[in-house]
Amino acid sequence: MEETHRESAEWIRSLLSNAQVTPAVFRTALTSVPPSERDAWLDQVLGLDSLAEDGPELPTGCVPYLPCPVDVLLRIVECAGVQASDVFVDVGSGVGRAAALVHLLTGASAIGIEIQPALVHTSRELAARWSALRFSPIQGDAAVLTGHITLGSIFFLYCPFSGERLETVLDGLEAIARTRPIRVCCVDLPLPPRPWLTFVSPPSGDLTVYRSTLLDPG
Ligand SMILES: C[S@@+](CC[C@H](N)C(=O)[O-])C[C@H]1O[C@@H](n2cnc3c(N)ncnc32)[C@H](O)[C@@H]1O
Repeated sequence: MEETHRESAEWIRSLLSNAQVTPAVFRTALTSVPPSERDAWLDQVLGLDSLAEDGPELPTGCVPYLPCPVDVLLRIVECAGVQASDVFVDVGSGVGRAAALVHLLTGASAIGIEIQPALVHTSRELAARWSALRFSPIQGDAAVLTGHITLGSIFFLYCPFSGERLETVLDGLEAIARTRPIRVCCVDLPLPPRPWLTFVSPPSGDLTVYRSTLLDPG
C-alpha cells in the first residue's frame, strides 16, 4: 500500500481512538483509496493483520472464514440503503470485519453471529478496542440464533452455509418480517424461493438484496 494510504489509515485509527470518526469522514477516507488497496487499508484501520484460521468447531457443511471484499460491502450499503437507524446483522460474522465496516460507513448498529469461538474472541477484542464502534458479537449457531435477533433490520449472509441451516434461518427471518420490514443481503448465496421475499433490484453479479413484503399494504 502507498505511504499516503497508510497514513490515512493511521489517521482514521487515531480518530476512532478518540471516538471522532463520522460516517462521512470514514467514507471519504475509504473511497480516496484505490479499490485494489481498500481491503488492506481497512485491515490496517481495524488492526486485523492476518487471515484468521478456522477451528474444529466449524460444523461439517458450514463455510470457513473468508472476509467479504470491501467493494462488495460498499455495494450492499448502497443497494440495501443502510441508514444509521438500521441494525445490521452479519449471519456468520467471522472476526467482525464486515459488521465494523458497515457501522463505520453508515452509523448503523451492528450485530455479528459467529459459531467459531476464536473468531468471536477476535471480534470482541475489536469491539472493546474502540468504544465508539457500535458492534456486538454473539457466539453460536446462526441457525438457532438468527430468528431471535428481533432488533435486526438488515441481515447479511456471505455464504455461511446452505441446505437445512439456511432454510431454518429463513424461517426465523420470516417470523421477524411479520413484525417489521427487513432486508436480506446475500453474497454468493442463492436463496431458496420464499413468497415473502422480493428483489430490491435485479441481482448484480455475486450480490442479491431482497426485502420482505409481509407488511406491504393491501
Ligand atoms: C464466508 S465467511 C464470512 C465472514 C464475514 N461475514 C465477512 O464477510 O467478513 C463465513 C463465516 O460464517 C461462519 N459460520 C459458518 N457456519 C456458521 C453457523 N452455523 N453459525 C454461525 N456462523 C457460521 C464461519 O465460521 C465464517 O466465519
